[in-house]
Amino acid sequence: MRDELLDPHSLPDDEEPRLPAERDGSAVGDGPSLRPRDLDEFVGQAELKARLRIILEAARRRGQAVDHLLFAGPPGLGKTTLAGIVATEMGVDLHVTSGPTLERAGDLAAILTKLGDGDVLFIDEIHRLSRTVEEVLYPAVEDFQLDIVLGKGPAARSIRLDLPRFTLVGATTRTGLITGPLRDRFGLVARLDFYEASDLQSIVARAAGILATPIDEAGSAEIARRSRGTPRIANRLLRRVRDYAEVEADGYVTSEVASAGLEMFGVDDLGLDKVDRAVLHALCDLFGGGPVGLSTLAIAVAEPTETVEDVYEPFLIQQGLLMRTPRGRVATPAAWRHIGLIPPPAAQAAESSLFDLDDDEPRR
Ligand SMILES: Nc1ncnc2c1ncn2[C@@H]1O[C@H](COP(=O)(O)OP(=O)(O)OP(=O)(O)O)[C@@H](O)[C@H]1O
Ligand SMILES: [Mg+2]
Repeated sequence: MRDELLDPHSLPDDEEPRLPAERDGSAVGDGPSLRPRDLDEFVGQAELKARLRIILEAARRRGQAVDHLLFAGPPGLGKTTLAGIVATEMGVDLHVTSGPTLERAGDLAAILTKLGDGDVLFIDEIHRLSRTVEEVLYPAVEDFQLDIVLGKGPAARSIRLDLPRFTLVGATTRTGLITGPLRDRFGLVARLDFYEASDLQSIVARAAGILATPIDEAGSAEIARRSRGTPRIANRLLRRVRDYAEVEADGYVTSEVASAGLEMFGVDDLGLDKVDRAVLHALCDLFGGGPVGLSTLAIAVAEPTETVEDVYEPFLIQQGLLMRTPRGRVATPAAWRHIGLIPPPAAQAAESSLFDLDDDEPRR
């Protein structure tokens, strides 16, 4: 069973598409939307924001559509939010679709012909577009033209339609899987990084304001610290701490209340969830600290390889708990200690020899 609380993919959450209440008999999500609407409300990612501001302002002054943008990075860092912000800032409509739902060329053509001048077309998981759909996308983004084939066999003929100038915003958790020709057609490829604790603290404080939850600075700092550098998780933890504070305390979120609440929901001191910890346990208990191949590790924790690579590993690596080496994944001494084990001498040695590889010293 997956740890829903810390899973950046899991429902329900304010930013996720809501099911109509009549379909499942209950409303999904709890409370107002926490998603920032414009650049000023978007916290952190200062460099990216500064670049976006210039691109948007320049397009606005020229009265043109914004150049195509690609946002890459782990789940829950704000890629979808940014697509919405681009549309809002430019005062245009946002059309949302995703790689896996565009099965046939006609699916994309149907969306393209509905676009208005300057509109934003957001394609989530753009690395999962099929080849045939990608082929339709190229002339559309480059020359704003759409080739449609009418009929089949020898009688088939193709007609070319002019499309309005639009902005393609792509989002992907895996830049490595985007084909070169597609990537080259974006005017900006921006990578979102995990958020600093101070930015996450502002995000928690802002969200608490929207949810009308009283919280002090230490309380928001505690939630921020355990949010895996991810705004979506920060918002979710805040909602659970709010529940805890209302039921078990007087509703006011202090650092003690936050800490007790998070502990109750199984969030550990570093903010690792069950699967994170399972990855570390598998590495250390089953494979002696590694090196072990990614697919073996994924099977050991019963998760898809892609999920382990995209969702769990980036944060474990960033925390210095796991290393990617040419021979496989390796646990650092900190990983052994985090799950309450004593790192074997081999783990220490492996780590220092790996660091040696970065040394400028000539090797014998
Ligand atoms: N910079 C930010 N400031 C404040 N809140 C943010 C920020 N970035 C993201 N959030 C919050 O986190 C939620 C998740 O963001 P978003 O849906 O944009 O992530 P994503 O990168 O598209 O994730 P995925 O890859 O899973 O689609 C948003 O609804 C919003 O509430
Ligand atoms: Mg998204």
